[in-house]
Amino acid sequence: LQLANRTVLLRVDFNMKVSRNGVVDDNFRLRSHVSTIQYLQKQGAKVVLLSHRGRPRGEIISDFSLRPLVGSLKKLLDCDVSFVPDCVGRMAEQSILRAPPKAVVLLENLRFHRGEEENSEAFAMQLAKLGDVYVNDAFATSHRKHASIVTLPQLLPSAAGFLMLEEVNRVQGILEEPSRPLTMIIGGARLARKLDVLRNAVFCADQVIVGGAIANTVLAAKDFEVGRSLIEPDYIEAMRDLMVEAGIVGCRILLPQDVMVAPVLQPGIPATSKLVEEMNMDDMILDIGPRTLRVWSRVLQSTKTVVWHGPVGAYEVSPYDEGTYNIANAVIHSDAVSLAAGHNTLSALKACDLRENFDALSTSSTAFINLMAGIDLVGLKMLREATNRVDVERRSFAKTG
Ligand code: 3PG
Repeated sequence: LQLANRTVLLRVDFNMKVSRNGVVDDNFRLRSHVSTIQYLQKQGAKVVLLSHRGRPRGEIISDFSLRPLVGSLKKLLDCDVSFVPDCVGRMAEQSILRAPPKAVVLLENLRFHRGEEENSEAFAMQLAKLGDVYVNDAFATSHRKHASIVTLPQLLPSAAGFLMLEEVNRVQGILEEPSRPLTMIIGGARLARKLDVLRNAVFCADQVIVGGAIANTVLAAKDFEVGRSLIEPDYIEAMRDLMVEAGIVGCRILLPQDVMVAPVLQPGIPATSKLVEEMNMDDMILDIGPRTLRVWSRVLQSTKTVVWHGPVGAYEVSPYDEGTYNIANAVIHSDAVSLAAGHNTLSALKACDLRENFDALSTSSTAFINLMAGIDLVGLKMLREATNRVDVERRSFAKTG
């Protein structure tokens, strides 16, 4: 794509927290897009940033504005960044027109307009009017069938940004040709979201470590007493099937052998460790126990690739963050190439100051697990189609020209 003196609409994912005083505590998502932005600037393009933040559902809600990100963005890019308080219309058009080549312009939250989530063609056309080329770097949003993700690439010459390529290639590399043994750690809750990724994990990993509330459901499926622990009864049968499949393909599923239990999830309530076969009706599983930590750490020591999604305990409440912290330590002290993904995993790792020790971090949760589960992402599909379309156009141009 020709970029010099052209206006690039760059879809980024700046869906991030800003504290009450307007400070960006964690600029990870901003940092992740810097190489794409700077590349476009070097090519002489005007860079117009499109993003959503939060779920304002078509309303203008100042708490979800992108304005507070301007300061951090300026610092990271070491250049001026102008902000436009709307993402379509005259004001946006004029501001972009006035901006010089290589300028960076951040437009206000796309989701302040209903058309974004409704994937309205009219809204996408208003966006398309603002630029010459579309680049999608928003891997973390590429599972959403929204206007700026799926319709915009049909209206402008399109390409993927560096972050998008890096994230997708990394997952594909792990699924197709990982350094083995490959260990996946899958924790957290919400089996509805993670069932497919677990199923795919069993087929491509050598071992799957299952922690968090998901492990409680698997323990229940194996007929252990799980007391008051959080489980998802609707998935017990699916977990039984999963274990059978794992046995058939020769994948080891590692479950906690002992757990930290308390009667309730509350800070300061002392927890005791119990073997899983010793649990009773009043126990609530809140973290992994010391024996499990030893076993899992040994497994991690002899692994070559680790992919981690989901904390292994109730990490938001101390002391149940210890299991997740100790497993993170085991991962970073192993020789394995490590990749962590998911909002909760990344915030747990940041809280214990170990996040930057991982070899790679994914900016996404849902897009990442979909891809790991072998599910195509609508945003990627549209980019592929757009790229093919450009090829076809070029070929027909060559024929007639
Ligand atoms: C994310 O943070 O996972 C993405 O930005 C998608 O956000 P959404 O779940 O609100 O669509």
